[in-house]
Amino acid sequence: MIESRSNPAPDWQQATCYLNGEWTALIDAKVSVLDRGFIFGDGVYEVIAVDTVGADGAKTRAPFRANEHFARLRRSLDAVRIDNPLSLEQWLDLTADVIDRHPWPRQLVYVQVTRGVAKRDHPFPAGAVPTVFVSTSPWPSIPNEQIEHGVAAVTHVDERWLHCDIKSTSLLGNVLMKQYAIDKGASETVMLRDGYLTEGSSTNISVIKDGVISTPPKTVQLLPGITVDGIAHIATQRGVKVDVRPVAASELKTADEIWLSSSGREVLAIVTLDGAPVGSQKPGPMYCKMHEWFQLAKQEDARAWHAQRGASPNKSHVGERAA
Ligand code: PDD
Repeated sequence: MIESRSNPAPDWQQATCYLNGEWTALIDAKVSVLDRGFIFGDGVYEVIAVDTVGADGAKTRAPFRANEHFARLRRSLDAVRIDNPLSLEQWLDLTADVIDRHPWPRQLVYVQVTRGVAKRDHPFPAGAVPTVFVSTSPWPSIPNEQIEHGVAAVTHVDERWLHCDIKSTSLLGNVLMKQYAIDKGASETVMLRDGYLTEGSSTNISVIKDGVISTPPKTVQLLPGITVDGIAHIATQRGVKVDVRPVAASELKTADEIWLSSSGREVLAIVTLDGAPVGSQKPGPMYCKMHEWFQLAKQEDARAWHAQRGASPNKSHVGERAA
């Protein structure tokens, strides 16, 4: 699909998606009501940000850290004992394909694998074939207002299960926490378990004090975020200290800056928490640097993506289910 005057960018509902080996209009894609994703939330997923980056004349469109997303998808699949239906190469081809089929310069690619269709019963069904779904949607620019002035967040006890490291489609706990923030006029809920920071409802949280970025360790209590890993990598490259350690709830009150991060929101400063100012109540100097460095890191990542794709002879569309 190429954007032109006679063929404008399609509405997201007119997008094309991949479902179990076939490309079909998103609006027409159907799965069985017996799909275990529908019945039990028995599935895992990924969301991958795609941006057009680079200098004028040499702009390229690329997914951010695609390899890392598919490594995490594999870990999630292993954790819930669903066989990975595709190889890494096939996943990367599919990602390239779904991006190419849509004209949007910024996209959020969505990937979901469920345990498949079976009579409703809790045990893993014998012989069920995983359902594989890949789609994309336009990713609106992150509002300048949020980048320049930051966002509000509220805190709440983390009431979710103890496998938050699995990127499971069973997201009710997260959905309720996101709505809690919205009902309070905030943009994110920062969750606390036993007096320590875990993560946001759909973001990871970092705390900055005296020039050091602190972020909770990767345990079963939170999702190992690709973006927060990217931030840690960028910071380390730039000589900023990153401390991966348990962060006490009390540290949120004395932080110079607090950041949220995710594929869809990149990195944003939290400027009020439960109505109280964080630091100067403006995105701080460390945030401003990180925001800029993050944009540069996307360019570097895009170059690596194109180098990897260029080196990979397999440009064929993944139209068939892997054996
Ligand atoms: N959510 N923690 C939770 C609970 C999340 O749902 C997410 C991302 C993150 C950040 O992970 P990453 O940096 O890899 O995007 C942390 C995605 C974007 C979503 O569910 O839409």
